[in-house]
Amino acid sequence: TLKIAVIGGGSSYTPELIEGFIKNYSELPVTELVLVDVEEGRSKLETVGRLAERMIEKTGVPIQLSLTLDRRAAIAGADFVATQMRIGLLSARSRDEKIPLRHGLIGQETTGAGGFAKALRTIPVILDICRDMEELAPDAFLVNFTNPAGIVTEAVIKHSKIRTMGLCNLPIGTRMQIAGLYDIDVARVETEMVGINHLNWTTRILIDGEDVTRSFLSKAAGASGLTMKNIPDFGWDDDFLQAVGALPCSYHRYYYMRNTMLEHMQEKFREHGTTRADDVIGVEAELFELYKDPELAVKPPQLEKRGGAYYSEAAVNLIKAIYNNTRNIQTVNVKNNGILPFLPNDASVEINCVIDAQGAHPIQPLAPVTAQMRGLLQVVKAYEELTVKAAVEGDYASALQALAIHPLVGDAALAKKVLDDILLENKEWLPQF
Ligand code: G6P
Ligand code: MN
Repeated sequence: TLKIAVIGGGSSYTPELIEGFIKNYSELPVTELVLVDVEEGRSKLETVGRLAERMIEKTGVPIQLSLTLDRRAAIAGADFVATQMRIGLLSARSRDEKIPLRHGLIGQETTGAGGFAKALRTIPVILDICRDMEELAPDAFLVNFTNPAGIVTEAVIKHSKIRTMGLCNLPIGTRMQIAGLYDIDVARVETEMVGINHLNWTTRILIDGEDVTRSFLSKAAGASGLTMKNIPDFGWDDDFLQAVGALPCSYHRYYYMRNTMLEHMQEKFREHGTTRADDVIGVEAELFELYKDPELAVKPPQLEKRGGAYYSEAAVNLIKAIYNNTRNIQTVNVKNNGILPFLPNDASVEINCVIDAQGAHPIQPLAPVTAQMRGLLQVVKAYEELTVKAAVEGDYASALQALAIHPLVGDAALAKKVLDDILLENKEWLPQF
């Protein structure tokens, strides 16, 4: 038997995952799939659960699906627990994005002060889930998609014995974008990635086994399409790309194109009073209307408007490789363990790993990790370390230091104002403070 529990099962992304399990059934024969949500998510869980039932029924795969609000029952005996919950729902994300903007800072779901607020809400819950797993499914793998995935994974590494991997669709999305630029099948593209979640560089690109990194960088300069759906498609400067010698990830735009990104956000906020979260609330409403249609039994194409499009491929590839002891290479978030010697051993890093039945094992990068990569990684990782401490201990001093050193804040007075707003507006989700 193979039991998978999905926490945050009422998410609009769930049909992605269901489609992935159905398509891969022959290599990943899931016997029991449990979608769990909380009381506030009950109606979404029911709607998306009915659609999942129809998808499974239509294809005839013998996956036994159940829906529940009982998290402990769902976790008990699971082989894999996948987490995709959003504490405080999209309204909390909307506030996360707006608080920094009000102070003239980048307001983003996972990066900078917005991601910090999300981490404070999420870490107590993920550690609670780990406590349940330690008791009811101690050998299960925790596959976490909940953002900020790198920080959440680091909290689990430091505060639980549960085997975990943090997962993001950006690595697979980047490979797809590279393939798109060459107009070739993604299966021909191999990448080496190094860094941390939402801050990684593609340092080597191979097509049919041949290293094309340098010529790719010339081709990539100014090109469109090298971004995730949730991040504006500003092209990279040619000289800058050549200087870096690697492809920055979509989220690097918040650091390397900070002013342009900030102006873009501020303009939207000024003119419409909205941020990305508000657009997503609209897309979600549209999706849930579609999901209610009793005739619908496939994942609707509208789901691809979301930044997390195709995340099921990453999820299913990972679970499949563990289940089948495949020993292939995938880019996931794991414990550093000295692979990047300039970061702490117990930090989470997003890096190429060999995946086998024991989990994900990071491999030594072949391409050099340059001084500028190291510098940015060290400061953002220090921010993450302080954020984990703040979230676990409810420690104001760590929180203040975390925000003060974040490159997208970088000012103690501003950090204090933003932090106080975050603590005030998130009171009901921050029992630790
Ligand atoms: C990217 C990231 C995800 C993030 C998503 C946001 O794909 O990898 O971690 O959740 O974008 O997309 P959204 O459509 O919610 O803005
Ligand atoms: Mn991500």
